[in-house]
Amino acid sequence: MSGSLTLPGDKSISHRYAMIASIAEGESRIRNYSTGADCHSTLGVPIEGNGTEVTIRGRGLDGLREPAAPLDAGNSGSTIRMLSGILAAQPFTSRIGGDESLSRRPMARIIEPLSRMGVSISARDGRFPPLEIRGAPLHSIDYALPVPSAQVKTCVLFAGLFAEGETVVREPVRSRDHTEIALREFGADLRVEAKTISLRGRPALQARDLVVPSDLSSAAFFIVAALLLPDSQLTIHGVGLNPTRSTLLDFLCGMGANIRINEVKCQNGELTGELTITSSRVRGGVIEKETTAALIDEIPVLAVLGAASDEGLVIRDASELRIKETDRIATVAENLRRMGVKAEEHPDGLEIPGRQRFHAAALDSFGDHRIAMAFTIAALCADGESAMEGAEAASVSFPEFYDRLACFH
Ligand code: S3P
Repeated sequence: MSGSLTLPGDKSISHRYAMIASIAEGESRIRNYSTGADCHSTLGVPIEGNGTEVTIRGRGLDGLREPAAPLDAGNSGSTIRMLSGILAAQPFTSRIGGDESLSRRPMARIIEPLSRMGVSISARDGRFPPLEIRGAPLHSIDYALPVPSAQVKTCVLFAGLFAEGETVVREPVRSRDHTEIALREFGADLRVEAKTISLRGRPALQARDLVVPSDLSSAAFFIVAALLLPDSQLTIHGVGLNPTRSTLLDFLCGMGANIRINEVKCQNGELTGELTITSSRVRGGVIEKETTAALIDEIPVLAVLGAASDEGLVIRDASELRIKETDRIATVAENLRRMGVKAEEHPDGLEIPGRQRFHAAALDSFGDHRIAMAFTIAALCADGESAMEGAEAASVSFPEFYDRLACFH
């Protein structure tokens, strides 16, 4: 895998820019907006033109209108959890749900803090989508997150924008901080001290022109492919290198991966850079504690790398993986098994011995974008032709994935 590549905009950042722009004053322009279906669920309308530039006329903090129909978050946990923070403060009732996978994702983690802020939310069985959010005037809270989740943190901070006084969120471990960076870009008054974020309510948010960095979590599939396939030298441009996301690169380099970073810049408060990845032997290692939270989206493709590494990979403290788009501990283990790769499943992780070979197999994404892409990379390293059921799930975050891959054929 040699050559150079540009990738679509970061999914996490695109969601946040769109949501904050909608409650800012004036017209925001967002370039390199994620082409993934999840970020279209946030917009609720298709992107026009070349598909990556979005213009949003903000309505200010008090200008949103009651939706005529239930809102559809599709497959996107980020959309339902983060948007609920905004819906909670509106003087109307909203209904929001999504597809079958989203309907199984836990929502108690947002219902609890939002209820404390004064809103009443009903959910299926008290904790699953669809949600009915009866908006109300909110009061600020001081909230210690019980789970390390940037989506929940964002939900509470978004609600805090509408509350009088200061909302404080305390994190158990530092999660991705795109919300804090973006809120500052739009003019919010926000302080971060270690793992505590304090936000003053009712700020005057001003529209911005923004550029979304390319998605490091999407780059991860190509990084792993370039490391595993012989004689590769791959350059990826303009990739987001926010330190709360780039643990991936530290972890890979710590295992012996040859990855160089050039042209580091800061754009709208977010670091970006150019990555050059050369085929490498990697040692393997352990992912646990805070590292698990920092690598949570990359674990499926790291599991693939782990099987080919010298010493294998142990993943612990990852029970959150069981409540992603699929139970990713089970779907990773199942696809590895189908490829003849040994993996031991634990309630909160996986143990994957190293120096294993991938055998061609009938694979299944189980409708999960990251499983589709991770096991497409495994299939590239296999000894024959594999087939992937539900490969189209990749379009949830990365519709161009197979086209980009085909360029290297
Ligand atoms: C995200 C946070 C993570 C991550 C998800 C995107 C975000 O989820 O897995 O893909 O944009 O804030 P959690 O907040 O549930 O950990």
